[in-house]
Amino acid sequence: MSDNYTEILKENGQEHLLKYLEIANEEQKKRLIEDIKNIDFKKIKELYSISNKNTDKAIESYIIEHTKFVDKYKISKEEFDTYKNIGEEIIKNGEYAVVTMAGGQGTRLGHNGPKGTFILNVKPQPKSLFEILADGIKRANDKYGITLNWYIMTSTENNEKTQKYFEEQKYFGYPKEKIKFFKQGNLPLISEDGKLLVDENFHIKYAADGNGCIYKSMKKDGILDDMKKKNIKWIFIGSVDNALLNMVDPVLLGLTVSEGNSIGSKSVVKRSPEEPVGVFCKKNNRPAVIEYTELPAEMAHERDEDGELLFGESHIMCNLYNIEALEKISENNLPYHSAHKKASYMDENGKMIKAEKANAYKYEAFIFDGFVFFDGISILRGRREEDFAPVKNKEGQDSPETAIKLYNDYWEKMGKIK
Ligand code: UTP
Repeated sequence: MSDNYTEILKENGQEHLLKYLEIANEEQKKRLIEDIKNIDFKKIKELYSISNKNTDKAIESYIIEHTKFVDKYKISKEEFDTYKNIGEEIIKNGEYAVVTMAGGQGTRLGHNGPKGTFILNVKPQPKSLFEILADGIKRANDKYGITLNWYIMTSTENNEKTQKYFEEQKYFGYPKEKIKFFKQGNLPLISEDGKLLVDENFHIKYAADGNGCIYKSMKKDGILDDMKKKNIKWIFIGSVDNALLNMVDPVLLGLTVSEGNSIGSKSVVKRSPEEPVGVFCKKNNRPAVIEYTELPAEMAHERDEDGELLFGESHIMCNLYNIEALEKISENNLPYHSAHKKASYMDENGKMIKAEKANAYKYEAFIFDGFVFFDGISILRGRREEDFAPVKNKEGQDSPETAIKLYNDYWEKMGKIK
């Protein structure tokens, strides 16, 4: 683009960026020009065109059906043991790995730093979310006599801080060579009138491209190749913000293998028809998660003959894939979803503007949009009190307070907190 960026910016309706060049010093100018050269204008147009629109077709245009699941605690002991044995065999063979998605911004929690560094005041001593996860994997390692490969996805925003935290914490005693970080991609934030935003450092403002971009990032950053080299066949991908996340459940693995599926997932029953979580369903006969905002109220309340919610299996970001499934999804494009968010920025006079209300669009792909490429998914219903203690909000429901209580109750029940 070298010197013709003026023309290109004008052609693409981004000429406001030229004004920043007028007030920038040499260093800042260089930075902004470099960013301008890297803009993918076609992508920006595409993204802006979906702003404030639902990228999914109207729900009425799909056939939405209830999907089957297996309740971990309602199956016979024989079935349970069969699944468990199949799963344990794979784990002990070193063919299993875990991935943590830790690239999110954690806006709702409002913690200053990567979400995984947030300390939960649990018993017997406070631990960060990362330490809680590390301890969970270490317990599995001890149980199966292995050392699992642990992959951690960060974002441009938090990569350095995350890696530094691990270093400072001496990797929580986890063998460093078994941990691999990789970085997810970015997408620009776009103002309501379609303009790119600039930050105080004269950089164009970008944000993480959503947890659904994990598939492409794993391919691009060589994680899938690394897994293949290590003969890893099954991969669990979970979120960073669940204090009861069980990353190594042989029953989920054994069930998925037994049902002949390439993907599996753990669910918990919705607290109530109104709980704001996505639930599993079949969408045009394909596995899918339907967002609570899309699920018509009457469907949300529908129950079967046993009184169970027909759309009651919450997607709690406990997903399992075989390596071929990850390859397959990574070769496809997932849709982007837009969210109207507050974004502070620098105006054309160099003044920082703090957004008081939503003023820009952020674009994200969702992890569950990868399920559609398969004929089926194995869903194992777990128990909220042993599988799901999310840390999403500063206070109230799904906050540190509720997560600490769930964590302490569970470990007390297991006899680990005296
Ligand atoms: P959420 O969708 O709850 O987002 O992430 P968040 O960033 O943690 O929190 P809010 O919405 O800004 O308050 C669910 C999981 O997906 C990861 C998060 O780190 C979390 O583990 N995630 C989310 C990513 O890794 N990358 C993203 O771009 C978004």
